[in-house]
Amino acid sequence: MKYIEAGNYEEMSRIAADMIAEQISGKPDCVLGLATGSTPVGTYKELIRRYEAGKLDFSKVRSVNLDEYIGLDGTNDQSYRYFMDHNLFDHVNIDKKNTNVPNGKAADPVKEGARYDELVASLGGTDIQILGIGHDGHIGFNEPDDVFYAATHEVELDDMTIDANARFFESRDKVPTKAITMGMWAIMQAKKIILIASGPDKKEIVDKFMHGPVTPRVPASILQCHRDVTVIYSPNK
Ligand code: F6R
Repeated sequence: MKYIEAGNYEEMSRIAADMIAEQISGKPDCVLGLATGSTPVGTYKELIRRYEAGKLDFSKVRSVNLDEYIGLDGTNDQSYRYFMDHNLFDHVNIDKKNTNVPNGKAADPVKEGARYDELVASLGGTDIQILGIGHDGHIGFNEPDDVFYAATHEVELDDMTIDANARFFESRDKVPTKAITMGMWAIMQAKKIILIASGPDKKEIVDKFMHGPVTPRVPASILQCHRDVTVIYSPNK
């Protein structure tokens, strides 16, 4: 794994945006694997800035997002579809038909998971996957468990994750308790992975997933088995 320590959040975001921009310029119809949460917001702002400066063209780009809350549809302002529209897609010339987020309203999450994995496969996999990391080591919403789950699947969110995400909701009891997330197959098939994290509170988990044992108790540790991972960490939020 390659490790880059950034001076601050803005620098972390710039370095991640540089890598994504290089990917889009080199392969205009590339497939981006995208994440939500607070960490990638600065990276998306950087990409929008470059698009507005005429330096990036998203017209042929395809994308697949990692996860979605169960029970929320794309019009709900807490859904990850809404997040992506507002933080990136509405501000660049990507064709929304080419953007994909798991369907949190699917009647059968198992079928939805299979559909999503087939979609990722039919796109030829992702060229570059952006990841954040939870304090418990989750990537996507693959929470600590006894096993790594390969398929896109439904998960019960951990209390720690619900606590962390409560900041985006009116109150903790409004945070959905379930999500649908890409499993390790769809994440690990990416040709290149960038994991971004910032703040002193993420230092311990970053050290642990990079240098500790590979275990489903620290889901991000599986990234030690991928051959092209860049971790960009800023000690400052
Ligand atoms: C979101 C996702 C999550 C977040 C993680 C960190 O799509 O997949 O794994 O990346 O919960 O969230 P933030 O960036 O808000 O600390």
